[in-house]
Amino acid sequence: MRYPHRHLLAIEGLHPPEIAGLLDLAESYVLLNRSGKTQRDLLRGRTLINLFYEDSTRTRTSFELAGKRLGADVINMSVSTSSVNKGETLLDTAATLNAMRCDLLVVRHDQSGAPNLLAQKVSSAVINAGDGTHEHPTQALLDALTLRRRRGTLEGLLVAICGDVLHSRVARSNIHLLGTMGCRVRVVGPPTLIPAAAAALGVEVFHDMQAGLQGVDVVMMLRLQRERMARSLVPSAREYFRFFGLDAAKLASAKPDVLVMHPGPMNRGVEIDSAVADDPLHSVIGEQVEMGVAVRMAVLDVLSRGGLRNG
Ligand code: ASP
Ligand code: CP
Repeated sequence: MRYPHRHLLAIEGLHPPEIAGLLDLAESYVLLNRSGKTQRDLLRGRTLINLFYEDSTRTRTSFELAGKRLGADVINMSVSTSSVNKGETLLDTAATLNAMRCDLLVVRHDQSGAPNLLAQKVSSAVINAGDGTHEHPTQALLDALTLRRRRGTLEGLLVAICGDVLHSRVARSNIHLLGTMGCRVRVVGPPTLIPAAAAALGVEVFHDMQAGLQGVDVVMMLRLQRERMARSLVPSAREYFRFFGLDAAKLASAKPDVLVMHPGPMNRGVEIDSAVADDPLHSVIGEQVEMGVAVRMAVLDVLSRGGLRNG
């Protein structure tokens, strides 16, 4: 496959064959993972460092698993007990890890653009694991892989991304990926949580769940990202759930075989009802997590083919 980039910083700017190639490769890793086999030679002698300035369960763990399955030495740096607390800057921290001959640097940071900045300063390949409200490219790839496996193609799917779109890097990466791969995308949420520039991204905007979910193939729910809100942008969790929380009644507007997605972590009873989240007929939330490992293996694989620093 052709992936002529040294890093993975964003979905925006990737071309359809690059996205399709990553998904094809990830597909082969799904089968490998399920067979219980590994490919430890691929990244043998390589070092992957997880540098997470924000909390994570899925992303950090799956990068660790993916790296180990391909034979890399994986280090999870604990930012909360690191010299960041003694005032060391992001750039100096990255330069320090770089000097230890890190090959793959996986970065999550609350500032949009932090991974791009690091990519200009270090010789490691940099992977964006979520930066502020900007992008979360491996999340969009794993969402796309989940959908493609369920529906056979992304082309022509009608997808509603619902909730706190304003603060969501997951929404931004998905809007770029799904649009590039031929889906029609709607965003649904209260006016306070939909970015003013949403329509310019080529999506349809709805402020009513029933109207926004009408006839959709996929509903992607988002968490209220309270950690990014200077003040509360919703009246109360109970009222938010009443109008924008996904329950069976609202889901009835969608196609009968609608797929329900959520990047996690979920806040049950706020943006999604447990009965919907756990409904095996519609919910693919567990599958999304499984696909995360395969997608991250594919990303590590292609970046290593680009020639890592020690190569
Ligand atoms: N885990 C995703 C992210 O880090 C979504 C979320 O936290 O709500 O962007
Ligand atoms: N979806 C996601 O990025 O989850 P974590 O924040 O747990 O990594």
